[in-house]
Amino acid sequence: MITVFGSINIDLVTRVPSLPRPGETVLAASYRTLCGGKGANQAVAAARALGGLATVRMIGAVGDDGFGVLARDNLTREGVDASRLQVCEEGTGCAFIQVDDAGENVITVASGANGMLAAAAMDGAVPADGDFLVMQMETPLRACLLAAERARKNGARVIANLAPVPAGLNAATLKKLLAAIDILVVNEHEAAQAAVLLEPEAREPLAAAKALAAHSGRTVIATLGGDGAVAVLPNRKTIRASAPPITPVDTTGAGDTFVGVLAAGLAEGLALGPSMERACKAASLACMALGAQSSMPHRADILT
Ligand code: RIB
Repeated sequence: MITVFGSINIDLVTRVPSLPRPGETVLAASYRTLCGGKGANQAVAAARALGGLATVRMIGAVGDDGFGVLARDNLTREGVDASRLQVCEEGTGCAFIQVDDAGENVITVASGANGMLAAAAMDGAVPADGDFLVMQMETPLRACLLAAERARKNGARVIANLAPVPAGLNAATLKKLLAAIDILVVNEHEAAQAAVLLEPEAREPLAAAKALAAHSGRTVIATLGGDGAVAVLPNRKTIRASAPPITPVDTTGAGDTFVGVLAAGLAEGLALGPSMERACKAASLACMALGAQSSMPHRADILT
């Protein structure tokens, strides 16, 4: 079983000719209301990649509002167990996303209910031996840390995606987080932002991943966009995976697709290398249409 502990948003997505600069107004023809949130995205990516081979459960928080109903119904429709979602006083998280003609995006997230998620939401459903816990950083760091510690103590393996890097993260908290997990997944920016806390000169992605792995004894995977991904293992060996060449339409959710499909591969019993290959392919496919979940591939798309 894969348990995703994390964020749930509704994404309001607009296509713009170019991303607005501070003080600038840009007109867009329309907007779309899509299901998102890094946690929910990772759960949907995993469920689609597994095609029913294993259970995917979402633990997160929504508001008592229409967006919350939309998000819950969507997860259920995708085959994700959404029976343990907390319903909070705050509104459901909402992300304001603008995508330009080159497929680049800017995202602002109003956290809402995500900010109220507590590790206690996992009570009675702590992942155990053979299970995976997957988390990201759009929910309170303290809750993520506690959830990871509880799951790992119970025998589960923990995959943490440091997206976004929590504001004010310091070396001590980063070390605590790394001690509580098995695999860290970072993009190029997150790798540099985190590694610099432990080794000031480690800025280039591979050097940053090596520094994070050396300081923690954990596996660190850096995603490299069109260049695929590289994993640095605790024994310092590296594993590389390539991404098929594409012309991106929208990169929103590509990182979430990578994390969800990586977890799915490992939960299915694949080794890290093949799981990374699948994750890279799925992440590339997810860049071919607008939106996060709306563009994620299904199992058959990934395996062909
Ligand atoms: O990673 C993409 C996601 O980031 C979007 O779905 C949005 O909700 C934000 O959380």
